[in-house]
This record gives sequence, structure tokens and C-alpha cells, in this order.
Amino acid sequence: MIERINSLVAEIDSIKAGSLEEVEQLKLKYLSKKGLVSVMFDDFKLVPAEMKREVGQMLNDLKNKAQQKIEELKSGFEQKKSDISANLDLTRPTDNIRSGTRHPLSIIRNQIIDIFSRIGFTVAEGPEIEDDWHNFSALNFTADHPARDMQDTFFIATNPDILLRTHTSSVQIRTMENTKPPIRMIFPGRVFRNEAISARAHCIFHQVEGLYIDKHVSFADLKQTLMYFAKEMFGENTKIRLRPSYFPFTEPSGEMDVSCNICGGVGCNICKYTGWVEILGCGMVDPNALENCGIDSQTYTGFAFGMGIERITMLKYQIKDLRLFFENDVRFLQQFTGAF
Ligand code: PHE
Repeated sequence: MIERINSLVAEIDSIKAGSLEEVEQLKLKYLSKKGLVSVMFDDFKLVPAEMKREVGQMLNDLKNKAQQKIEELKSGFEQKKSDISANLDLTRPTDNIRSGTRHPLSIIRNQIIDIFSRIGFTVAEGPEIEDDWHNFSALNFTADHPARDMQDTFFIATNPDILLRTHTSSVQIRTMENTKPPIRMIFPGRVFRNEAISARAHCIFHQVEGLYIDKHVSFADLKQTLMYFAKEMFGENTKIRLRPSYFPFTEPSGEMDVSCNICGGVGCNICKYTGWVEILGCGMVDPNALENCGIDSQTYTGFAFGMGIERITMLKYQIKDLRLFFENDVRFLQQFTGAF
């Protein structure tokens, strides 16, 4: 018995624990009811009377030692825990998390929206998958109209009535169908055309179109609105030039150039030494298009315009290849830090 007590004392002296859970395990092992120390007390009755005093003392010492050891181990871990929180430096700067950058097309789209909202235009969006009526027919592109050739797109093979929209003019139709004039809105969005991909063209691009319908809206209103836009976008000294053009849904129609913002109109390789760059198509809404949407063309007139966001962005940032917008190469994209 004395030998067993001594070996337990030595064992308890040398125990170690790696965690608080292990300390709990050790407590069970030695001190629970069936624990190694406790069962020694059960055997105490077998000790001869003359030795009871000595062995009793040893057993009590053993029990105290075990309890003390367990307590020591336990408080060691608790101390460690509070040491960690005491040493926690909440003022230490964190590692830098690099924030992303806005895509250049989003930056320019937001600027265009901002410029037009300052003169009362609101924003509407519509579906990218369109039907023939909203993309073509309601806009005066009759079934065999040659102007459809310039806006070839992607059709659903089994149903040629369903297509990817070629311009956001489809949203103008949807708006006119559902809104009573006056209407003063712009329509940003992604559009699609069946084009060979090159530095200047892509099968996906982005537009912002605009529509203003009210009583007595004239070509002079169109010109003033576009001049305001050009100066806000490209600078106070920008000049505009309108050339006659053709769109089935506007009459008369025009194309607008701005004086080259790179060379100031003197001539450079961006403007092909003409001093002018084309940025949008426009015109007075054809009475047929108004009537197609249930708007009385005797009472109301309106103007519309449409521009490619890629083109404006290329001019603003002097980007020479339109494909860069879609490749998502971070070396290109991260150059637009800080812009909104
Ligand atoms: N929808 C025409 C295009 O995509 C642009 C345009 C819009 C022209 C409005 C005139 C008026 O080519």
C-alpha cells in the first residue's frame, strides 16, 4: 500500500496537460469517485490498525497533492488565456485590403446619367432579350427594310420574333407604350449586334439613348440639349456639328460630331486629322413611331438620341482598342482607380 501511494505521488508530480480539457480528464482519472486516488481510500480498511495513522496521513497528503496539482494546471491555462487578451493590441493597423476599381464603362455611364439628370431626365431600363416589335417594327423598320441590315443581331433559330436587342430604342418604345407625355428619360443598357470583333467594333456594346416628348418640342431643343451634354462631358470649349443622316424612326435625322477633345480641333490621329469625332445619332421622333405607341402625333412632338458608351469612354481616356473593355485584364482595369 505504501509503495502504491509513493508511486502515485511520483506519477502526480510529473503529470502535464496540453489543454484545459486534458486537465479535466486528469481530474476524472485521479479524483473522481472511481479515480486512482479515491479507490486507495476504499482499501484503507485493509490496513493493519498499528499502521492506520501513518498510512492515513500519507493518503491525505496524496489527495491534497493531486488536488493541488490539478488546480495548478487549471489556473496555468486560465492565466494564459487572460495573457492573450491582455497582449491584444487593438490599435495595430491591419494589412491593406486593396479595394477594386470601377470599370471604365461604368464610370462613363454614371457620368452620362449624372449630366442628363441635372436637366430633369430620369433613367429607365428594359430587357436585353427583345421581340421584333419593340426592337424593329414599332420603330418603323418594316419586315424587309434595308436598315435592318445595319443592325443584324442574334436570333432564336426556332423563333425569329425573339432576338437580342440591337439598341436601347426598344426601351423608348416600351416607355412610350406605358407612359403619357411629357416624357424626359434616358435609357442606358447593353446591346448586341452581329459584328466581326475588331479594335472598333464588338458583338456586345453599351448605349445610352434619350427621349424627350412634350407639346412644342423642336429641333432647337434637341440641339441645345446635345450641346449642353457635349460641353459637360468634354469641356466648356467643345463645339458640336450636326450632319444629316437617316434612321427609320426619326425625321429629320442627324449625326453629331464634337470637336476633337484630344487636339482641340486642330487635327490628330484620333480624329483622323479632321478635327471632329462622331459621337451619336439623333433626330425628331417620326410621327409613325409615336402613333405605334398610342401617342397623338398631332399634339406631341419629341426628339431622341443615342450614343455608344464605348465610344465616349475611348475618347475620354484615349483608349485605342475597344476589345480591352471586355477582356478584363487587371493591368488595364486598375488604371481607373479613384474614379466613380
Ligand atoms: N438607335 C440608334 C442606333 O443604335 C441611335 C439613335 C437613337 C438614333 C435615337 C436616333 C435617335 O444606331
